Amino acid sequence: MLALSFRHLPHHEGELGEVAVFLHLSLRKYAIHSTMKEIKKTSWRSPSNIALIKYWGKHGNQLPKNPSISFTLDKCFSETSLSVSEKTSKDKGLELKFYFDKKENLAFRIKILSFFEGISKDFPFLHKYALQVNSTNSFPHSSGIASSASAMSALALCLCDMDAALRGKKIAKDKLLEKASYYARIGSGSASRSVFPVASLWGEAKHVKGSSDEYAIPFEKEMHKTFKTYQNAILIASSAEKKVSSRVGHQLMKTNPFAKVRYKQANDNLAELLPALKSGDLTKFGEIVETEAMTLHALMMCSQPNFILMTPSTLAMIARIKAFRESSKLPLYFTLDAGPNIHLLYPENIKNKVVPFIQEELSEHCEHGRIIWDKVGKGPSVIK
Ligand code: DP6
Repeated sequence: MLALSFRHLPHHEGELGEVAVFLHLSLRKYAIHSTMKEIKKTSWRSPSNIALIKYWGKHGNQLPKNPSISFTLDKCFSETSLSVSEKTSKDKGLELKFYFDKKENLAFRIKILSFFEGISKDFPFLHKYALQVNSTNSFPHSSGIASSASAMSALALCLCDMDAALRGKKIAKDKLLEKASYYARIGSGSASRSVFPVASLWGEAKHVKGSSDEYAIPFEKEMHKTFKTYQNAILIASSAEKKVSSRVGHQLMKTNPFAKVRYKQANDNLAELLPALKSGDLTKFGEIVETEAMTLHALMMCSQPNFILMTPSTLAMIARIKAFRESSKLPLYFTLDAGPNIHLLYPENIKNKVVPFIQEELSEHCEHGRIIWDKVGKGPSVIK
């Protein structure tokens, strides 16, 4: 191939010649790639989620140190497609092109390659075909919203769906979601919780039948109806790049002096939260959810090295939320991810009172007044 390329290139001496050969080869590869016949394609939309009981600390191959539970979101989602075509070479390695927002993205490609390598024995087609993944998010990349949950769950759904299609096997929806949750977890722990409508629980929990460290389970049936339409206004205190990646954050729990107490607390909080979710006890729900958020941040403050993930705007908003709750007696509570943005949670029936409060008292603390008006959602769907 190289000799052939040299022969066909008029000027091939010195550096210019090498560049010309490189370009020629690249163009040939591109031409082959762009004319390659797509054999099959699958596309999924999958939402992000917000944890009520936090996953913070892991072991083994992406196994959680404590059970976690989350609301599935609606407006914050990823759309991902996976297509397979004939390989351009006999090379046994993975052949992958990855596009984010229609542009080839090499940093993401490397992450996806290592994810695919790790699970390729379960998905032989990954080595057999040339793969192309295209992904986009509904929320801006710079909004400070973690995209790994929606992105990895959408990709896991594409993988499981593609696998079934290539084998010519029909797979029941609940089995597909459970399998996707398992592989999404390997990509990113919280992604395991993004595949079910309304709410999911991940991690072995005492008294929760069917719960597992390996995949999340649907939790909609265990919820009072008020939670099925719960609102989540995401108040963007800062859209700056995260100070600490979740990967590093989980790692820090290995030496955190309070780790053992924390894992017990998470289990205790879950045991208290479950009846509140069932009965619709909004006060109990809110108290536990806020404690979980504050604990997550406290853990980061006492890790070695330590991190403060809130900004002055986060603190100002928390103070106003508490004062408004005190004076209005309305059940609005907040939670936080491992970052400065606030997720304000409230039932749909008080929306007309909470929205003006957010606009009048909180939006001035948001970066460029940015708020994402999200709510509990219906889970992933196929894109036709
Ligand atoms: C604070 O799922 O992002 O959002 O498994 O390393 O990808 P990896 O971590 P990730 O951790 C999420 C942490 C959290 C809490 C939660 O969602 O439960």
